[in-house]
Amino acid sequence: MTADIIDGKAFAARIRDKVAEHVARMRSAHDLTPGLAVVLVGEDPASQVYVRNKGTQTTEVGMASFEHRLPEDTSQAELLNLLDRLNDDTEVHGILVQLPLPSHIDADLVINRINPAKDVDGFHISNVGLLATGQKAMVPCTPLGCLMMLRDRHDNLSGMNAVVLGRSNIVGKPMAQLLLRDSCTVTIAHSRTRDVAEVCRRADILVAAVGRPEMVTGDWVKPGATVIDVGINRIPAPERGAGKHRLVGDVHFESSAAVAGAITPVPGGVGPMTIACLLANTLTACCRANGLPEPEGLTA
Ligand code: GUN
Repeated sequence: MTADIIDGKAFAARIRDKVAEHVARMRSAHDLTPGLAVVLVGEDPASQVYVRNKGTQTTEVGMASFEHRLPEDTSQAELLNLLDRLNDDTEVHGILVQLPLPSHIDADLVINRINPAKDVDGFHISNVGLLATGQKAMVPCTPLGCLMMLRDRHDNLSGMNAVVLGRSNIVGKPMAQLLLRDSCTVTIAHSRTRDVAEVCRRADILVAAVGRPEMVTGDWVKPGATVIDVGINRIPAPERGAGKHRLVGDVHFESSAAVAGAITPVPGGVGPMTIACLLANTLTACCRANGLPEPEGLTA
């Protein structure tokens, strides 16, 4: 068997088109422009790239983008102050504080200062609790993107065996909650799980989010399973020349694609979905704040 390749780039483009259409309607019918504020503290190069991409894509779908780039030595009090202002700003419907933050800042305190209704990352403890209890929440972007791909692939996830490899607050735990909400039988496996290959082999749906390059090999995959690879790992690629690198997922692609029914590649799978879902969340937050119907197909 050779798996179908799930094209995350094309999928994300369709989400952005849907968001853009919705934004255009909101602007003309309600004179309302959804706004996203992104806060970056410090000079981390990877974070700078993410923030630039977020800003570009936000304006491309017709939303307002507010970027706050603060120096590395910004105090926690200054950052909390900015968040208070953004919480009060009626033009800002979504707030994202880029992680990681410098070590002198308490990230939990900062995240929990964001108004939960504007927490488009879905990291605030209120949103974590709302998701876990099946209430209306803001849902973390990467797991939301994975869920959208899975719902697109399967008419009904009910009763499927889902294994989430990884237990992070950003991906593993919220992913498990979303799959549970869609009535999957969910197992969270992690670095201490015994017989992890055996656990994975039972999965109709396997979501790998451990951050270990190519950890999942084809012999871990149930024939016909849907494999979602959240990992983005940069590994040395001497075959491309001295000092060169390449990106791989947490799944060994070739061996797994030979067994799976469908699989996401790296790059071009889950990666592009994250910012698309951030835009979808910002639109959802704006609709909720203004008592408008939520966009169909763009929420959990
Ligand atoms: N840094 C890496 N991924 C993320 C994310 O999804 N949200 C935020 N805020 N920071 C990140």
